[in-house]
Amino acid sequence: MRSDATHRISESARLLSGELHPRTSSRLERDRVDGMPPHSVEVGHSSRDPANRGVATPATHYRLTAMSCSRGALVPRPNPTYAVHFTHVSHLESIVAQGLLADSHAQGAGLKVEVGNTGIKDQRRRREVPVAPRGVVADYVPFYFAPRSPMMFAIECGNVPTYTAGCDELVYLVSTVDLLCALGQPVTFTDRNAALNVARYSTAPEDLDDLVDWPLMKAAYWRNTSDDPERRERRMAECLVHRRVPWAAFTGVVARKQTCAAVAHATLDSLGASIPVSVRPNWYF
Ligand SMILES: NC(=O)c1ccc[n+]([C@@H]2O[C@H](COP(=O)([O-])OP(=O)(O)OC[C@H]3O[C@@H](n4cnc5c(N)ncnc54)[C@H](O)[C@@H]3O)[C@@H](O)[C@H]2O)c1
Repeated sequence: MRSDATHRISESARLLSGELHPRTSSRLERDRVDGMPPHSVEVGHSSRDPANRGVATPATHYRLTAMSCSRGALVPRPNPTYAVHFTHVSHLESIVAQGLLADSHAQGAGLKVEVGNTGIKDQRRRREVPVAPRGVVADYVPFYFAPRSPMMFAIECGNVPTYTAGCDELVYLVSTVDLLCALGQPVTFTDRNAALNVARYSTAPEDLDDLVDWPLMKAAYWRNTSDDPERRERRMAECLVHRRVPWAAFTGVVARKQTCAAVAHATLDSLGASIPVSVRPNWYF
């Protein structure tokens, strides 16, 4: 009998070769996207101040019990391990054509709507990556391991001065660590925001179990506490792919509202690049 890992690698290879590339919204395909972190269904999206709520939800209970034991050790990373990148919906056309490009390459290419904080992005253009093939953080396409990131929260709260249009036109591109590793491009992982000097880097997927705080990825709320002043930066653990991720590596698109999902769906349809598009308000704030 094939092991899980063998099965996932062969599924990834078939997906990348186009054999399994999803073109319709079949139940199976939707479930692949639907298998994302459970906090997204456990928690509503009504709060305007989600980072600072102390309410006990099933997710926070889970976090308190699991994290107090050990990061990663008792809560294995999810299988598959999802990786998400959010971007403006207007980028879909060029992302289908050119792939999702690292900031160093996207500038001057298809990038139309800069949603990131320009100060932080400048920092990432200077921050050297300490593992092969090195370069700077901006040379890599960034993914988070969970939706509802601190970066998206900043956008939602209007704290990115150069992009104040909110999150209604932002879509998530969904992939998995296995798919990204199967691309043959260098992939590296960090235990927190990659721009920080204290970030730990690894190129070994097997290190992910301990590198990333998996209980925190399941939690809806990630504010720092006096006991744990690094929760916010650990929630920004990253999967970084060198230079470019082709469209074939994405298994789904997620939008906050039906209107944006319809735009995404129509764009992909017109390009013959359809993959399942889901509406998931609870991936947003
Ligand atoms: N966006 C995310 O989901 C995400 C995930 C992890 C970390 N981060 C980090 O947060 C900060 C801001 O990130 P960012 O979202 O500006 O990403 P980024 O720094 O990688 O900037 C590149 C921008 O160009 C877009 N882009 C890439 N290829 C494109 C193409 N072919 N056509 C059109 N647009 C294209 C990207 O979606 C992104 O908006 C960065 O410091 C980033 O590394 C973001």
